[in-house]
Amino acid sequence: MTSLLHLDSSAHRSEESVSRQLTALFARTWRTAHGPAGYRYRDLAADPVPPLDSAYCSLGRRVERNGLVPPAGVDTLAESAAERREWSLTRPLVTELLAADTVLVGAPMYNYAVSASLKAWIDRVGFPGALTDPDTGEGLLRGTKVVVVSARGGAYGPGTPREGWDFQTPYLRAYFGEKGVAPQDLCFINAEMTMAELVPGLARFRSLAASSLAAARAEVIAAASGGGPAGGRSAGLGGRIEATAG
Ligand SMILES: Cc1cc2nc3c(=O)[nH]c(=O)nc-3n(C[C@H](O)[C@H](O)[C@H](O)COP(=O)(O)O)c2cc1C
Repeated sequence: MTSLLHLDSSAHRSEESVSRQLTALFARTWRTAHGPAGYRYRDLAADPVPPLDSAYCSLGRRVERNGLVPPAGVDTLAESAAERREWSLTRPLVTELLAADTVLVGAPMYNYAVSASLKAWIDRVGFPGALTDPDTGEGLLRGTKVVVVSARGGAYGPGTPREGWDFQTPYLRAYFGEKGVAPQDLCFINAEMTMAELVPGLARFRSLAASSLAAARAEVIAAASGGGPAGGRSAGLGGRIEATAG
């Protein structure tokens, strides 16, 4: 049975959230194609992953000193109730991630980067060695497909004034790549200029926003219905945008 882990991280828990609209469309399409049994959902805004604390760091450093330690070995290295608590917050997230064939990440752009709730999850599942094969040193996500659906108020493609300001998708590409996700298994679908509908000064970009959303919806349906991640493709509005929202 194939499995999908669906993560949302927009703080805007509303049907107006573009990343949530698109990930919900992906999930509906995926369940129609594959059935409901392998589907898991985690709302990182509604049910936030706690930020790291000192006990996470002390346990992580002890694990690092011991080389590559599998999850069962971390249990025995924890030396205090606080460290055991940190590991008990971390391990289920790692197990859930490793069980997924496909991971769907809803990612709003906040201040040119990912949301704090998504970053908190990333920091947890990135516990030292948790996503590394202790025998080979390879990333354990090497068979996993990752689909990132990003929503951003502005546009960041080549030729836009804020080209080079996107610290969201390059970051996620580096993170998941380092954990073993193959480039052809990592797909980015971007809805851009989402603020054009809201901000009067961006009204002239409303048709571009609409076409970006329509393209994102089509890519979501293709990816979810088995067209598969599109080889690391990253949709954008290219040089057609002359101003951006930040
Ligand atoms: C705290 C915050 C920071 C934001 N920072 C940016 C930004 O740096 N660049 C940008 O293009 N849009 C920015 N936006 C706009 C969001 O990216 C945009 O509204 C997007 O659609 C949010 O995703 P959502 O619709 O799924 O909630 C920001 C919005 C918020 C709430």
